[in-house]
Amino acid sequence: AEVVETSFHVKNLTTSRLCQNHVITAVNGSLPGPTLRVKEGDTLVVHVFNESPYNLTIHWHGVFQMRTQWADGPEFITQCPIRPGNSYTYRFNLTGQVGTLWWHAHTQWLRATVYGALIIRPRDGQKYPFVKPYREETIILGEWWNANVIDVENTALATGVSPNNSDAYTINGWPGDLYPSCPSNKTYTLQVVPGQTYLLRIINAALNGHLFFKIANHNFTVVGADAAYTNPYRTDVVVIAPGQTVDALLTANQSPGLYYMAARPYASAVGLQINNSTTTAILAYQNATQTTPVLPILPALNDTPTAFTFESNMTALVTSPFWRPVPQPVDENMFITMGLGISECGNNQTCGGIFGQRMAASMNNHSFAFPTTISLLEAHFRNVSGVYTTDFPNQPPLQFDYTNTNNSFNQTLMTTPKLTSVKPLKFNATVQVVFQNTALVGVENHPMHLHGVNFYILAQGFGNYDPVNDPRKFNLVNPQERNTLGVPVGGWAVIRFRANNPGVWFIHCHLDVHLPWGLATAFVVENGGTPETTLPPPPADFPRC
Ligand code: C2O
Repeated sequence: AEVVETSFHVKNLTTSRLCQNHVITAVNGSLPGPTLRVKEGDTLVVHVFNESPYNLTIHWHGVFQMRTQWADGPEFITQCPIRPGNSYTYRFNLTGQVGTLWWHAHTQWLRATVYGALIIRPRDGQKYPFVKPYREETIILGEWWNANVIDVENTALATGVSPNNSDAYTINGWPGDLYPSCPSNKTYTLQVVPGQTYLLRIINAALNGHLFFKIANHNFTVVGADAAYTNPYRTDVVVIAPGQTVDALLTANQSPGLYYMAARPYASAVGLQINNSTTTAILAYQNATQTTPVLPILPALNDTPTAFTFESNMTALVTSPFWRPVPQPVDENMFITMGLGISECGNNQTCGGIFGQRMAASMNNHSFAFPTTISLLEAHFRNVSGVYTTDFPNQPPLQFDYTNTNNSFNQTLMTTPKLTSVKPLKFNATVQVVFQNTALVGVENHPMHLHGVNFYILAQGFGNYDPVNDPRKFNLVNPQERNTLGVPVGGWAVIRFRANNPGVWFIHCHLDVHLPWGLATAFVVENGGTPETTLPPPPADFPRC
């Protein structure tokens, strides 16, 4: 195994999208930022220089961070931000997973333009469990605002309303041919040789867009997700929530021509305030004769059956060298409701959200408030009191029928306190979480992401989770392993994981509209009692608040 070392210079970049010049925050002058390539078992060292005007952290989405908890990156969870003019070196090992992950800023909405791919290939002497691809290509789906994203977020937070919609989706940084055309537009083009098979590494880096992705006239064979191998799954559409990755084989087996690849949102309910535009790129066969690309027909905005089929049909490849059986028995059972609601505007003022309050989001009716002077991990390590409480409940404090729409728009039920409340877990505990997506206000999938560990998705369904009958549907044999899961709209999902890494692991909705509203908490995994299972001290250059 090798040490792969690189530097990120994060600073303003003037770039043109949608026919206008914009100043964005970018890494090493490019959007998307640099692709990091390692082999399984390597150590990655990234020196991050914050030359931007904003506070910054970088998160390595999906990396286990075994014994490198201080490198995980979420702001005020595992570290204080790197202040403008300062630097921090992230150093961590990539063992036990092969496939596609990614990195992104984990401060405010900065990840809109601060993101890139992290590709882990098999170590020397190991092979893919599928046909060797002719080439590998990264397809990063993104979301673009013409306005400064930090301003968009700050304005929404100050007024308590929903932030403005984005102006475009992007493929490898470019909106594509269906947006206004102008000379500065580029459309990403993937050149293919007829008859060859390509491994597409598809990443959803969009802030809020859960996306459908298709290539006209072509099928995919999904072979991995979130850097875990899956059984081959054939499909003509990929459904991908913010935070997720999908590895899919694509064979160039159609008549040599030009074909659009395209993505647009899945929003589970018509009427949600979202940008419903379509981004495109081109699949171009070598020596193509025709000149007008064919456009694929994407599923409708609210095509929940297609989204659910994709997300629930995948299974894990148990012959993978990285597969571990589902842990049993369960030590800690949690039932977590996720919902949108309101928090008080304060000082008898009126805010722009429902009932004149502030829009909020919660888990078990606890809306997460970020600490501001120290990270949770440092407070935990140094036993600093008063930063967080350890009373995050295993059940929602309010018991009522969340799917009964008569409960909607009840101010008392919708009001949620802002708390920094976390859930302690014993080292190596087997934890099972039932997520129940409540339907009080918005009806949409919440892509729930857990830092530091992959979880198994045992089952998912619609309506209220039934604790008597639904456990019979659990897949304990080959459930897919993920770090991010789209909990179905008006439905539930059950995950299980082993808390095998001491530290503080953030769990949150990967829609950036919901994260600052508080749809988050953290698991504090206690030390295991041996030197190897004890949280080490922070590195010397650890950012101070
Ligand atoms: Cu990809 Cu906490 O994030």
